[in-house]
Amino acid sequence: PAILILWALIGYGLGSVPFGMIIAKLMGLGNLRQIGSGNIGATNVLRTGNKLAAFLTLLLDGGKGAAAVLLARALAAEDAAQLAGALAFWGHCFPIWLKFRGGKGVATFLGLLLGLSFPVGLAACATWLATAFVVRISSFAALMAAATSTIWMVLLGHGDMIALGGVLTLLIFWTHRANITRIRAGTEPKIGKK
Ligand code: G3P
Repeated sequence: PAILILWALIGYGLGSVPFGMIIAKLMGLGNLRQIGSGNIGATNVLRTGNKLAAFLTLLLDGGKGAAAVLLARALAAEDAAQLAGALAFWGHCFPIWLKFRGGKGVATFLGLLLGLSFPVGLAACATWLATAFVVRISSFAALMAAATSTIWMVLLGHGDMIALGGVLTLLIFWTHRANITRIRAGTEPKIGKK
């Protein structure tokens, strides 16, 4: 129905705001496309050496996922919230403003999970952090957080989120395909390194 299409559009619009690029530009950090992996996410912003910029990117890219979910839930219903979250993710990865060449969706994924179910989101963030702490590779931590997200959904009583979790996990593996090649080749850089 029309209301779902509306929330899909709002989700996409929110998700497609490339905060990393905006922050890098505002803070004079250069063109992210020419830095590190060329990605527009917090991990690559960190490669500029500016931790505050990276933190703000993480916060805002995550925040737009959470905002899409919470707005849709407050003003419509739970199915609209899931749809808005999924489209925020899609908007981040494939923004019309950047000719559909966006980011990899990790922060937005964590943000929308936190919005949909705080415990599931927290578990996914903890999985990311624990993996990153041990392995020190952002993309690997992201793949772990994505791959385990549906398990957390089951364990934490959120069977209603499994389909969404499965689809977004597949998309995260897709957006990280170059990272996966580098991980397998042993050339993926550690967090904070160029
Ligand atoms: O958030 C994206 C992260 O998982 C990988 O980023 O720049 O190392 O490709 P990057």
